[in-house]
Amino acid sequence: MDTQAVIFDLDGVLVHTDRFHYLAWKKISDEMGIYFDEQINARLRGVSRMESLEIILERYTGPALSDKEKEELATKKNEIYRNYLSQMSPLDVSGDVKNTLRKLREAGIKLAVGSSSKNTKFILEKTNLADDFDEVADGTMITKTKPDPEVFSLAAKLLGIDSAKCLVVEDAVAGIEAGKAAGMKTAAYGDAAQRGIADHDLGRISDLLEIVLK
Ligand code: BG6
Ligand code: MG
Repeated sequence: MDTQAVIFDLDGVLVHTDRFHYLAWKKISDEMGIYFDEQINARLRGVSRMESLEIILERYTGPALSDKEKEELATKKNEIYRNYLSQMSPLDVSGDVKNTLRKLREAGIKLAVGSSSKNTKFILEKTNLADDFDEVADGTMITKTKPDPEVFSLAAKLLGIDSAKCLVVEDAVAGIEAGKAAGMKTAAYGDAAQRGIADHDLGRISDLLEIVLK
């Protein structure tokens, strides 16, 4: 495969902020008496904050919530989440991820982040990852989140690389679907790698080196 660019999802791929998303939503769910577990959490991967809330509210049995109340819940979740993010440092990026990014770049492969998150810039700053990428496409720049291809198509456009020459790395089923819809090759990691839906399944991020640089 003639890969010229790799587009990385952020949460759950480059850093384990997926854990913080889970903990923040768990706190909101517990306070509202809503059942929430890892299986439901897997459906939140890759989708926007408000869409995540709607998935959680599928099990809500209390009085109907207004749009304003939903906005308040999402804001509260984000405050809890950002509190976790504020404690992050470069040590939260594994050596496996750092080395892989370095080796891909040395080989002339373009690198981008393609994330649904509106907290992307904050996370990249806290972890000192910003300079490792040529371009960043995130939740502040798009109108439709994964499984829509918008964020990945935007990343390819910013890089100036044809979609067919891009490889998407994702931990979300919605993200693999988005990559495919964008006409890109896909590599699944973590949760998505258990599903057998991508072109490649990664045990660790450095498995990419064999796929891209072979
Ligand atoms: C994605 C996460 O990266 O970003 C989702 O996988 C999350 O779980 C989405 O809902 C939006 O994140 P944020 O930071 O804008 O609330
Ligand atoms: Mg993810």
